[in-house]
Amino acid sequence: MVYVKKSEQATIKEIYSADQIQTRIKALGEQISKDYKDLPDPVVIGVMKGAFCFLADLIRNLNTEYPLQMEFVRLSSYGSATESSGHVQTPYLELPNISRRHVLVVEDIIDSGRTARFFLDYLQGQFHPQTLKIACFLDKPSRRVLEIEPDYVGFTIEDLFVVGYGLDYAEKYRELPFLGELELNKSN
Ligand code: IMP
Ligand code: MG
Repeated sequence: MVYVKKSEQATIKEIYSADQIQTRIKALGEQISKDYKDLPDPVVIGVMKGAFCFLADLIRNLNTEYPLQMEFVRLSSYGSATESSGHVQTPYLELPNISRRHVLVVEDIIDSGRTARFFLDYLQGQFHPQTLKIACFLDKPSRRVLEIEPDYVGFTIEDLFVVGYGLDYAEKYRELPFLGELELNKSN
C-alpha cells in the first residue's frame, strides 16, 4: 500500500503492515520472556520518543516471573533531517537508582549506533547492571559507525529512511500504524 501525504508532497510506501508488526513482536516477546523468566526485578528502559509504540506492544507480550519496572529516557541524535546529527543529545535522562539490576533497553532503531552505544556505556558506568541488553524494533546494520550488536531485533532493514509505528520525520508520521519508507517528492 502507498500513502501519499499531500501537505508534505511525501509518499510513504508500506514495508511492514500493522499485522506483520504484531506477529513479529509476539515472537520477540516469547524469546525475551524465556531469557528473563527467572531474573529478579528486571528494569525496562524505553528510549523516547521513537520507541513508544514498540515498547507498549512489546511489554504486553512479556511474561516474566518477576514484575517489570518501567523507566523512560529521552535521547536524540537526529535533527529534523533524515541524517544523524552525529552527537547524542539527552533531553531527559532521569533514572532512579537501578544499580546492579537486570536492565533491558528498548529502542526504536539502531542506525549509526551512536545513541545506543552512548546509552549502554552510560548505564554501565552509572549503574553496573547485572545484565544489560538492548531490544530494538529495527536494525539498519549497513549504516553502523560504532560497533553494537543488539540482543533482540524486530526487523533488519536496508538503508532506507522509515516512518510510522513511533518513528518520525521532523516529528511527523509517528502515529501511522504501519512502517513505511518515506520518499520526499522532488519539489521539497
Ligand atoms: P543512531 O544514533 O544513528 O543509531 O540513530 C538512532 C536514532 O535515529 C533513532 O533512535 C531514531 O530516532 C533515528 N533514526 C535513525 N534512522 C531512522 C529512520 O529511518 N527513521 C526515523 N528515525 C530514524
Ligand atoms: Mg529514537
